[in-house]
Amino acid sequence: MCGIVGYTGSRQAVDILLDALKRLEYRGYDSAGIAVCGKGVQIFKDKGEISSLEKSLPRIHGTVGISHTRWATCGKPSKENAHPFADCTGRFALVHNGIIENHRQLRQKLESEGHRFTSETDTEVLVHLLEANFNGDVHSALRESLKEVKGTYAIAVASSDSNEIVAARMENPLVIGLGVGENLVASDVPALLNYTNKILHVMDGETAVISPDSVAIYDESGAEVKRNPSTVTWTIEDAEKGGFEHFMLKEILEGPSSIHNSLLGSLDGVEEGEFLQDVGFKSVKIVACGSSFHAAMIGKYVIENLSHIPTTLELASEYRYSHGTKESPLVILVTQSGETADTLAAAREARRRGCRTLAITNVVGSTITREVDEVFYTRAGPEIGVAATKTFLTQLVALSLLAMRMGFARRQLDHERLRILKAELRSMPRYVEAVIDGAQQIEGSVEMLAGARDAFFIGRNINFPTMLEGALKLKEISYIHAEGYAAGELKHGPLALLDSRTPVVAACIKDHTYDKMLSNVSEVAARDSPVIGIGYEDDMDLRSIVDRFIGIPKVDPIFSPIPITVVLQLLAYHTAKRKGCSIDKPRNLAKSVTVE
Ligand code: F6R
Repeated sequence: MCGIVGYTGSRQAVDILLDALKRLEYRGYDSAGIAVCGKGVQIFKDKGEISSLEKSLPRIHGTVGISHTRWATCGKPSKENAHPFADCTGRFALVHNGIIENHRQLRQKLESEGHRFTSETDTEVLVHLLEANFNGDVHSALRESLKEVKGTYAIAVASSDSNEIVAARMENPLVIGLGVGENLVASDVPALLNYTNKILHVMDGETAVISPDSVAIYDESGAEVKRNPSTVTWTIEDAEKGGFEHFMLKEILEGPSSIHNSLLGSLDGVEEGEFLQDVGFKSVKIVACGSSFHAAMIGKYVIENLSHIPTTLELASEYRYSHGTKESPLVILVTQSGETADTLAAAREARRRGCRTLAITNVVGSTITREVDEVFYTRAGPEIGVAATKTFLTQLVALSLLAMRMGFARRQLDHERLRILKAELRSMPRYVEAVIDGAQQIEGSVEMLAGARDAFFIGRNINFPTMLEGALKLKEISYIHAEGYAAGELKHGPLALLDSRTPVVAACIKDHTYDKMLSNVSEVAARDSPVIGIGYEDDMDLRSIVDRFIGIPKVDPIFSPIPITVVLQLLAYHTAKRKGCSIDKPRNLAKSVTVE
C-alpha cells in the first residue's frame, strides 16, 4: 500500500501536494517524494516520513505536480527506491501504488533496448515503458504501456511540457477531486478534502486525463466514460479510516485485498522455486510471538500435511533459552512488524546454532530482514490497529505457500493436488468477502459474549490454534477473560469452569475431527454453557445443537483457519465496540514490542 497525489491548477503545487500527501501517511511512510513541473520536471525524494522530505525541500515553483508516500513492497526503503521515477530523457515523472508482477521480464527487455534503471523497484519499468511508447501523446503512451503490464496499479504521470496529469487504475484505489480552476487525483479521499468534496471514482481498467479545467475518464477500449461526481460528507479524520469508526474494522475489511496482494506473483513461485529454492533441510522449526505464534502453529499443520517435513514450534521468548539439538532445521521466524525484540533475538540465536533462517514479515527493510538468510513478504499493507488482523491472514497465506513449495519440491504433492490448492487460494479473497458480507449473522453471538466475564474458544487439529487466536483477539480488545483450548482437553480440567454464564465458541469443520467436535459441543451444552458454533454454511447438524450458528463458505479444511479467523476478528471487534473499549489502542499494549 502506498499513497499518491497529483495536482494541476493555478496555485503552487508543492504546498498542496505535501499537505494532501500527509493525509495518506496511514498508507505508508518509509519514504516520500515529489515532482513539480515548471522548468522541466524537478524531482525531490528521500527515505523517511513526509515531514523530513518537507524540511529538505528548496522553494520549487510550478503549478502541476505529483507526489508519493511509500510502503515498500519491492526494493528496500531508500532514496533511490522512493517515487517519483523519471525516464531517461527527463520528460516524465511517475508515481505508482500496486505491484507489477512481470517487472523482471520487462526490465530485461527495456535494459537491452538501452534504458538505464536507477532503482530496485518494480515501478520503474512503467516510466521506461512510457518513454518507449511515447509518440507525442502521454495518454496514448500510457495506454500502450499498460497493455504490456501484468499486475495491479494506481498510477499518476506528470510531464515537462504539459499541465495535464495522466492516471490509470487496476485494483488499487484512485479518486479524482474536482475543484474550481484546479483538479486533484489521489489514492484516497482524505487527501482531497481540504480542497474539494466533489469526487469522481476511477474504476478498474480506466485511465484519466486531468487538467486545471477538465477531467476526462476513458474505459479500456479508449471510449470516454461519463460519470457524475459524488459529494463526500466525511471529515478528514473519518476519511482516513475509510469512513469506519476504527482502523481495526477497516483492516479486517481489507482482508480480501491483502490476501490477493499476498498471492500476487508468489503462487507461480511454488513450482518455479522463486522462494525457498533449496529444500534440502530435514526439519523445520517455526519461532514467533503472540498472534504470529498462532499463525506458526497453523503453519505446522499445513507444512506437515502437505510436505511431511517434521515441524516443531517455539515461542521466540523461550527459544534462546532452550537447548539446541544436533540437527539444524530451517528456522522460520514469523513477525508482522519485523521488529519484535524476542523474535530478533531468536533469529540471531538460530544463526549462531548454524541454522538456515527465513523470515515472514510485512515490513520491507525491517530489522529482521537484515538478520536472516531469506525473507518472504506478506504484502498486507500497513496495519495501524494494535490487534493483528489482515497481517495474520497473510501470514497464513505465506505459510501455506511455503508448505506447498516444500511439498511440491519434495514430491509429496502431485500436480493435481497442487492445482486444487492453488485454485482454492485464488478463491480465498472471495470466501473472506462472503464472511464479511454475512457479518450480520454474528449479532446474537456478540450479545452473548459482551455480557460474559469468561469465555472459551475450542477447536481441534488445525483449528485448535485458530481458536487460540480467537481467544487472544477477544481478550486483548474487549478485556474479557478468554481461553483457547484444544476441544479434547476440556474434560481434563476446564470443564469444571463451565456454566450458563460462560459462553463457548466452537469451530466445527467437516474434516476427520468433525464427529469428535460435535461430541465436545454436546458435552459443553450439557453444562449449560451457551454455544456459538462456527461451521460450513450448509451444516444442519451443527446448526441444530448450538445456540448461535455462524456459517462460513465450504473451503478446503486446510485453509479453513482463514475464514474462521475473520469471523473471530469480527466477533472480537463488535464485542469490544459494544463494551465501549478503546479498540485501536487497547490498554497496556503496543503495535511493535521492542523490549524482551
Ligand atoms: C495480537 C498481536 C501480538 C503480536 C505480537 C508479535 O493481536 O498483534 O500478539 O502478534 O506482539 O508481533 P510481531 O508479529 O510484530 O512479531
